[in-house]
Amino acid sequence: MSETSSRTRASLASIFSRISGLGASCSQSALMDPHFKGLRAYANWLLSNYEIMVGASQIKARPLKLTFDATNVCQLRCPLCPTGLQMQYRDIGHAHLHMFQHLIEEVGDYVFFLDFFSWGEPLLNPRIEEFIRLARAKKIVSIMSTNLSLPLTDDRIDRLVTSGLNHLIVSLDGASADTYATYRRKGKFDLVISNIRRISAAKRRLGQTFPVITWQFLVFRFNEHEIDKATAMAADIGADRITFRAPYLDEGRFELSAADKQAIASWTPQSPLYQIALLNEALAAKSKSRCGWHYMSAAINWDGTVASCDTTFEKRDDFGTIGKNGEHSYMGVVNNPTYRAVRDRFAGRRKEPVDSVCEHCPTPTIMDYHRFINRQVILFTIGSLLAAVSRLFRGWGGGGQRPWRRSSKFPKPSAAADYPS
Ligand SMILES: C[S@@+](CC[C@H](N)C(=O)[O-])C[C@H]1O[C@@H](n2cnc3c(N)ncnc32)[C@H](O)[C@@H]1O
Ligand code: SF4
Repeated sequence: MSETSSRTRASLASIFSRISGLGASCSQSALMDPHFKGLRAYANWLLSNYEIMVGASQIKARPLKLTFDATNVCQLRCPLCPTGLQMQYRDIGHAHLHMFQHLIEEVGDYVFFLDFFSWGEPLLNPRIEEFIRLARAKKIVSIMSTNLSLPLTDDRIDRLVTSGLNHLIVSLDGASADTYATYRRKGKFDLVISNIRRISAAKRRLGQTFPVITWQFLVFRFNEHEIDKATAMAADIGADRITFRAPYLDEGRFELSAADKQAIASWTPQSPLYQIALLNEALAAKSKSRCGWHYMSAAINWDGTVASCDTTFEKRDDFGTIGKNGEHSYMGVVNNPTYRAVRDRFAGRRKEPVDSVCEHCPTPTIMDYHRFINRQVILFTIGSLLAAVSRLFRGWGGGGQRPWRRSSKFPKPSAAADYPS
């Protein structure tokens, strides 16, 4: 490809990504069902922004968003996932509820958002609904991504639907059994479809609008011809929305068999809308001097270890640990010597490299994480005010229980991720 045509394609991808990013922003507040958090959560938000602005080494602000991996066990074998590849990157297991309770007691009043997924299949933790309930009690907006390819009892489905989960993302990369199983190895297409139908039916039966169900379709070369078919199927099977996303196809990141390497090399979709390299190229124009993750977020693994962000999975890249039972404070970990050294390095105060995964990480050059979080907090606030007004009106009118009705319009395929994964 010539340099000019590559640049044109990158600019087009950038324009599409911006337009759909705007649309995604608007639909975000509808996904949240937020309840106003106390004023100290907002004071903490301001403090966090101040700390990132001055490049503070030691931080006082509590996190605004957390990723919590309730398990790193998975029954599927996706070939570009370290868990699917059964890499021995750390012991496998389920998080203790006790650890999560400590974490939420310490920082739950300040956290706005919680992702209940990272490197495993969250529904394999049999107590995941209890984790979500604890988050909900602190008015935290929660999201879960699941392969949903597992048997679920009616009781489990009811528990999930009534847990307070806001958004359920179902990883279903295909509109037929054959294409689906190309990436989601060991996944059962019919089972996933049937589970979506059952969750949707349970929502109706229980009078619940949430969790909003999003069918997430990673677009590969082998399934991109099914985009229209999936869009047509989505409403019928009970999904509230469908998103089409560019997959990572970096086969160099993992040790793969020669056959897998060859297969993956042929998976780049034809459409530039779903080519991660083009999207990243478009974003890389804006280079940032700090990483918002070091100030506003962290990823907690099932074993209580803390990673600087949700792109790392190896134990050697952890920054510290709150302990399997939450023995150590979160704020103690995020102010330990590793965290401070990395913040100093990003702020330009430290000349010598830090022995950390952040030293060569491309993420801060691709995305402005702290701006993303700020935008989410603003949407959360607008959404919570609107929801409060709507509850007030429903109280006066004695109306139904639904804070947000499902739109009859189904969204068009979108190139942009709703939020970074
Ligand atoms: C590692 S998975 C764990 C959660 C759950 N097991 C699932 O698959 O939804 C986290 C997210 O990464 C997504 N994912 C998996 N492989 C990917 C790839 N090659 N590129 C981009 N996202 C991917 C999944 O669809 C999911 O939304
Ligand atoms: S279903 Fe999710 S966790 Fe399991 S192998 Fe696939 S991407 Fe990894």
